Amino acid sequence: MSPMADPTSRAGTTYVSQEIIAWTNRVHASHDPSLQAAFDTPAMTGIPAIMVGESEGKLLSMLVAMIRAKKVVEIGTLAGYSAIQLARGVGLGGRVWSIENDPKHAELARENVRTAGLGAIITVEVGAGLEVLPRLQAHGPFDAVFIDADKANYDEYGRWAAANVRPGGLLLGDNAFLFGKLLEDSPTAAAMRRFHEEARAAFETVCIPTPDGLLLGVRR
Ligand SMILES: C[S@@+](CC[C@H](N)C(=O)[O-])C[C@H]1O[C@@H](n2cnc3c(N)ncnc32)[C@H](O)[C@@H]1O
Repeated sequence: MSPMADPTSRAGTTYVSQEIIAWTNRVHASHDPSLQAAFDTPAMTGIPAIMVGESEGKLLSMLVAMIRAKKVVEIGTLAGYSAIQLARGVGLGGRVWSIENDPKHAELARENVRTAGLGAIITVEVGAGLEVLPRLQAHGPFDAVFIDADKANYDEYGRWAAANVRPGGLLLGDNAFLFGKLLEDSPTAAAMRRFHEEARAAFETVCIPTPDGLLLGVRR
């Protein structure tokens, strides 16, 4: 029976399990050794394992490929897993500038980028997003911006993206549900809600219900 035909089903019902996610990841988003190395780096080195999931990583890669993106900015590199996915989407001749403020994370990411043979595409910029973004502006306009760093600044990052993404380009924001705290009364939740609302003004938007929400916008 389809969910629609089930009189007990309703919005919010979930049909997924860890087993289903693992199986579909294996079928659709399996890793080659370079992706696996970047994915495993947090567990191997003790930095937080807070990268996007396999399916979300593959989605990032496919989305930038679908719009034939050549210039992408990422805020929040960690060990380079999503940067590698984005770089594979843009392909040879493309550029991914990925911003990371923790020098240890940046160093691990650079190593993974080198091992993946993507040094000509990915540049890891060390520094705080709000300090590095103005320096990148000269390379714009950009085809896509992926935001996956400090949540309290998502509204600022979204504004920068609105000013620097070309028409038809993409805004991508991970953790758009703010770990379930989006509607709480806190400065970070308020910033995240502003991110949603302001994004909607400049982009055609949807919030995809991935485990923690992925905001997707297409620049008008
Ligand atoms: C969720 S992780 C990024 C995961 C990565 N996008 C992936 O999926 O592989 C967030 C990263 O943002 C970095 N970060 C936090 N605040 C930042 C800031 N203000 N500017 C730049 N990077 C920041 C953290 O050090 C961390 O490595």
